[in-house]
Amino acid sequence: QAIDDPNTATAEFVVVANRLPVDVVREADGSLTWNEAPGGLVTALKPILRARHGAWVGWPGAADIGDEPFAGDDMTLVPVRLSAAEIAEYYEGFSNASLWPLYHDVIVKPEYHREWWNSYVAVNRRFAERAAAIAAPGATVWVQDYQLQLVPRMLRMLRPDVHIGFFLHIPFPPVELFMQMPWRTEIIEGILGADLVGFHLPGGAQNFLYLAKRLIGYPTSRGNVGTRTKFGVVSVGFRSVRVGAFPISIDSAELDKLARTAQTRAQARALRNDLGGPQRIMLGVDRLDYTKGIDVRLHAIHELYDEGRLDPEHDVFVQLATPSRERVESYKVMRNDIERQVGRINGEYGRVGRPAVHYIHRPVPRTELISFYSAADVMLVTPLRDGMNLVAKEYLACRPDGGGALVLSEFTGAAAELRQAYLCNPHDLESVKNAIDEAVHQDRDDGRRRVRAMRRQVLQYDVDLWARSFLETLAGHIGVVEGPEGR
Ligand code: ADP
Ligand code: G6P
Repeated sequence: QAIDDPNTATAEFVVVANRLPVDVVREADGSLTWNEAPGGLVTALKPILRARHGAWVGWPGAADIGDEPFAGDDMTLVPVRLSAAEIAEYYEGFSNASLWPLYHDVIVKPEYHREWWNSYVAVNRRFAERAAAIAAPGATVWVQDYQLQLVPRMLRMLRPDVHIGFFLHIPFPPVELFMQMPWRTEIIEGILGADLVGFHLPGGAQNFLYLAKRLIGYPTSRGNVGTRTKFGVVSVGFRSVRVGAFPISIDSAELDKLARTAQTRAQARALRNDLGGPQRIMLGVDRLDYTKGIDVRLHAIHELYDEGRLDPEHDVFVQLATPSRERVESYKVMRNDIERQVGRINGEYGRVGRPAVHYIHRPVPRTELISFYSAADVMLVTPLRDGMNLVAKEYLACRPDGGGALVLSEFTGAAAELRQAYLCNPHDLESVKNAIDEAVHQDRDDGRRRVRAMRRQVLQYDVDLWARSFLETLAGHIGVVEGPEGR
């Protein structure tokens, strides 16, 4: 595929996200190459990107690289260059030490600094400019997530002809919390530059509608927002912005297929062997983030061992934790806390060659992850707050055998769909302990009924349906109400 000149507006479909869907590799001679990093989002959007001459605008993940677009397999990749200072202020600072904790129930205290905000504005403008340069006349541009909330409005000012969608992948907080944000009006106005604004849950959409009305005074529709139906509307001057709930999902058919292979099943058996042949494997899979409640589940497991409700001879817990945002202070503090907890439990309950908790602080390759899911008797998903949580859905997709059990926090988006899980309140330690205990000791047939019911949900509502429902709603908007071209 020819590489598009970034200054010729040729892409009919543009994704704008903080990260490019590639890993940058520095070769021995110092030159840079790119490996595609297949995430759910890019997998879902590939067919559309391919068919519509698509482009993806994003940060390559390291300082001072980027600028020249290059050809990916199915799209043009447009790298946005960030300096080391911008990574510290825009990414680690405003995105991940102000917005991330504010939007996740202030689990840690958000910090607000005007230098961080200024950097956020400057970097959002750069993303908007790159998108504006590559989008064809009348193109569709889909802006992703909390790092880029100002892009919709900036892009609309640069390119009033394009159709703009915005999707927030994390929770949108209640008004009482959002009002802390010193630049709250700018953020709501920024998002309202879109034609369609999507959240995972109707609750997030409702929080947003309320703020648009109370904070800025825009007229909004009444009535409840539904899931993929019944959209809210904000009237912004002569424009209408639609607001809806579109719970994201995974490529479930693909995972289901991989989990069925002889290779996966053999690897899952080998894993159980390597763990010393325990009766029950409990598993946690997360980015190492304080929102994920890894500390909560370790605490619960520790007490269950203390009380003899788990048995170190028969039960083992494996925590896979991908390193994340390691230079942000609250992440360093949490990592120390978790590693201390792991050490304590093993000190009390481990034997030589047989730890009670296995802790792996490295990303695990996809195929290995699938065998972990296939081998795990109980999956522990206990976030204090999570927009969706894809791990819960991945686990279910990897259980074509109907085996296993899911312990799931009520404070995840996934809990709205996966009602047959062992639901728990992560703020209530007894509730988490009881859910783990019930899941570990579940009746086999009851367990199968639960997993089968949840698998139906996950296989039916996959990431493809998510992308299509958002984009079709965005397309339907055009022409129905007065669009940007009507002004
Ligand atoms: P978040 O987006 O907050 O990280 P999700 O659960 O929605 O949380 O998505 C996490 C994604 O990262 C999943 O696709 C999961 O498979 C992957 N992942 C998480 N932890 C690991 C790990 N230790 N090794 C490999 N992949 C992981
Ligand atoms: C969450 C966010 C994404 C983000 C991902 C990984 O899923 O919603 O926007 O890309 O975490 O975090 P990172 O900071 O490494 O991009």
